[in-house]
Amino acid sequence: MNEPILVTRNLGKSFGGIVALDEVDLSIETGKITAIIGPNGAGKTTLFNLITGVYPVSTGEIHFQGKLLGRIPAHKRAHFCIARTFQHIHLFGNMTVLENVMTGQHPRSSYGFLEAALRLLPKARREEEAISLKAMRYLNMVGLGMHASQNALSLPLGQQKLLAIARALATEPQLLLLDEPGAGLNRLEKRELSDLIHRIRELGISVILVEHDMPLVMGLAEWVIVLDSGQKIAEGTAAQVQKDQRVISAYLGEEEVE
Ligand SMILES: Nc1ncnc2c1ncn2[C@@H]1O[C@H](COP(=O)(O)OP(=O)(O)OP(=O)(O)O)[C@@H](O)[C@H]1O
Ligand SMILES: [Mg+2]
Repeated sequence: MNEPILVTRNLGKSFGGIVALDEVDLSIETGKITAIIGPNGAGKTTLFNLITGVYPVSTGEIHFQGKLLGRIPAHKRAHFCIARTFQHIHLFGNMTVLENVMTGQHPRSSYGFLEAALRLLPKARREEEAISLKAMRYLNMVGLGMHASQNALSLPLGQQKLLAIARALATEPQLLLLDEPGAGLNRLEKRELSDLIHRIRELGISVILVEHDMPLVMGLAEWVIVLDSGQKIAEGTAAQVQKDQRVISAYLGEEEVE
């Protein structure tokens, strides 16, 4: 078996008195699609925020490809080949679809994006053309090539979510974190999303998927980890965790509350 791409040990995060994650040990397999599921408030997004360095950990450790992530700040983690999309889409509304993807590549270019955009130097211009060509490839991969010159926010929600994935892919990640990519999508859009995630996996990229849509999880995830109230309560194949009594109780508890 390959070395896991990501390992957490005793990982914890508190916000004041709220324990969002509590001594979580995870091992995420390289090259696989792993789903993290759990009721609202289980700590799923918090886990992504710790992996990407948005928040410092309160306790424990995160190892990426055997290296301790420690206190490396979020803006430097792109170099660690970890990319994400957000539960609530963050696109640049004053940019085109193509420009949004171009910003994804910026961490790897030697010129500042502004400098490149101003086209001050021939080298910057050549580099920008290369970035633009590459961005176009990612747009085509998610099926948005024909919308390249449109304003990003003019796209319907389903396509904005695909655009967010294209931008994350443009950073050339080895690990891609997707936070509820299926939320708000119709059935056809979910099928397209599912196809895309399969194709991303075929590129050799490891995917961690946080998702509430169980059919989507069942069709995609090779391994499922269940969080509830900040703790890992189960893991296994999708079929295994669906039968797990603790998992069933966690979700039933949520229904009673709502
Ligand atoms: N920045 C923050 N400040 C204070 N509390 C927070 C913060 N972020 C998360 N929390 C709390 O941590 C807990 C876990 O939240 P988190 O967003 O990780 O859950 P989730 O599993 O992603 O839920 P959902 O399915 O609703 O997206 C919740 O109680 C939440 O209110
Ligand atoms: Mg969340």
